[in-house]
Amino acid sequence: MKTFTALIFAFACLVTLVMADNPRYRDECVTIQYWRGKNGNEVPQIIAECPVKTDQPDSYRCTTLKLDMCYANAFGRLEPRLNGGFSSSCSDCIMESTKLTCTCANGSGGTTRASTETNDLIKNAASLLSCFVHNGIWCSDAGIGFHVAENITATDYVRLLNSQP
Ligand SMILES: *[C@@H]1O[C@H](CO)[C@@H](O)[C@H](O)[C@H]1NC(C)=O
Ligand SMILES: *[C@@H]1O[C@H](CO)[C@@H](O)[C@H](O)[C@H]1NC(C)=O
Repeated sequence: MKTFTALIFAFACLVTLVMADNPRYRDECVTIQYWRGKNGNEVPQIIAECPVKTDQPDSYRCTTLKLDMCYANAFGRLEPRLNGGFSSSCSDCIMESTKLTCTCANGSGGTTRASTETNDLIKNAASLLSCFVHNGIWCSDAGIGFHVAENITATDYVRLLNSQP
């Protein structure tokens, strides 16, 4: 009987683990922006503020995720793929809400305007944007040569970077 109870308990834990997937990011994160770095020449990223826990609204942290980790250009279509590296053959991206649209080489010598809904793939993993096995990083760790407060807003972060010489 004891073994049986333990088994039931273990099964319940497993079900909980499997169900406790990270939430999609648009419902939780704020000030979501497409971002190419201070000079507009870095690889495409999404920058946003995401909560560590949804029940702690004051726990938002600024996070960035490089989209080359998440998408590939498949003959003029933007496709979710681990380490897809789409940016080497796509350009002129915009993001409307969370829908990413770029001009991508289509493999037939031309280009095609391609879109993907990033909210279908990207999640909030305890305040880090993530896709597949990759977590993004906090803005404060984004390799910037000056101190950035951990709890800076994404909007202030962009403004601060732009104000640096
Ligand atoms: C590729 O792009 C060219 C020029 O825009 C277009 O004429 C052609 O139909 C496209 N091919 C595909 C497979 O989308
Ligand atoms: C941000 O962090 C600083 C330093 O830890 C703290 O003093 C400030 O109250 C924080 N601001 C918010 C909005 O959490």
